[in-house]
Amino acid sequence: MERAIIRGGARLCGTVRMSGSKNAVLPVLAASILAGSPSIIREVPRLDDVLTICEVLQSLGARVLFHSGGEIEVDASSVSETEAPYDLVRRMRASFLVMGPLLARLGHAKISLPGGCAIGARPIDLHLKGFEALGARVSLGDGYVKVVSPGLTGQKVYLDFPSVGATENIMMAASLSEGTTFIENAAEEPEIIDLGNFLSNMGAEVRGAGTKVIRIDGRRELHGVDYTVIPDRIEAGTFMVAGAITRGDVIVSNVVPEHLKPVIAKLQEAGARVFEESETQVHVIGPERPQAADFKTLPYPGFPTDMQAQMMALMCVADGTSIITETVFENRFMHVGEMKRMGADIKIEGRSAIVRGSENAWGAPVRAPDLRAGAALMLLGLRAQGITEISGLEHIHRGYADIAGKLRSLGGDIQRVPDLI
Ligand code: EPU
Repeated sequence: MERAIIRGGARLCGTVRMSGSKNAVLPVLAASILAGSPSIIREVPRLDDVLTICEVLQSLGARVLFHSGGEIEVDASSVSETEAPYDLVRRMRASFLVMGPLLARLGHAKISLPGGCAIGARPIDLHLKGFEALGARVSLGDGYVKVVSPGLTGQKVYLDFPSVGATENIMMAASLSEGTTFIENAAEEPEIIDLGNFLSNMGAEVRGAGTKVIRIDGRRELHGVDYTVIPDRIEAGTFMVAGAITRGDVIVSNVVPEHLKPVIAKLQEAGARVFEESETQVHVIGPERPQAADFKTLPYPGFPTDMQAQMMALMCVADGTSIITETVFENRFMHVGEMKRMGADIKIEGRSAIVRGSENAWGAPVRAPDLRAGAALMLLGLRAQGITEISGLEHIHRGYADIAGKLRSLGGDIQRVPDLI
């Protein structure tokens, strides 16, 4: 276990390159099970969650090779195991993404129920509803969910909520099934488009990914491909806030500015100057003091829930009061208590947090309660007076590749030290 020690006050300046997207690479790696021949996935970020999904693939019988340049080769031709055990699914909910591919490829799958997690109950009813619509039988027992089907057939599936994971799981299952599937009220996130491209390259015909209706013409067989995942828009958003909160001047490279529109708009409203330098670079110049700005998290193209905590850090030092409403997850305010330890004035009322900005934040020992909340505490620590010690760094390492090194490269005073407790 490690802690991060941050001495606040440095103005971050320079250029920092973003890694491949965590939330794109996880479903892409799960989808590689669909192919009878090997795939090479490029721009894979070095993250604990990536290692976990690779362990899941290996436990199913896939051969997974890590190349030094950040590529992963997956040969799933010999996958025969259909059970993803509790230990791995408990460690990372996204392990559940192998259910659709296993069902389609081998006709059955047994996955430990993911249960709740720190940010909410996170049920999987929409995933299961989709599998049932395609012809699978679903049963629950002993903490596991089992799905069985002699052969999936394309159907219309309407999602009550545009769940990212359910859209992905159904897309993957539908790609290796008979006939045509329509997913209505589908999630529209960029990671869905990336998965759609991956599946199309494997031989399925996927149209409309990134819109409310996705059409998938399934195939009897899919083949492995060489694929590069999109850059991580949440890592990019986090570094953009780092520039803004430290009165900095930061160019974030290897980004798709289009994916960052809601974050760019909110940073501009908060007084940051943001320019799209090129098709792959965004430049952020932080204001002396940010302005308060209200926002509500929503499915894409709304403001991302995965940026709520980081933007709240900015609002903690803003001039004025902001109302931040979380509509995607029911319990994603765990950072509030920790931010208060750093001097923030925040009150929670139902699904909203009322943040009264104050000129200064101060350093304090805090604990990262989850991935994005941990990153947000780092951001507030960079602005705070004095020293912030963040424990629970393992949460942050699940989703940020070398965040401390990247912040240091911009002039942030941040060290990683072993946690002796
Ligand atoms: N939901 C249901 N039933 C379902 C599925 C979801 O009620 O069957 C609810 C959830 O409980 C939640 C909401 O729908 O309240 C959104 O869940 P969604 O399924 O869209 O999220 P996810 O697929 O579990 C992915 C990301 C999350 C990100 C969300 C929303 C991955 C691996 N994870 O989760 O990323 O917050 O979409 O954009 O792609 C993160 O990176 O920190 C993270 C949590």
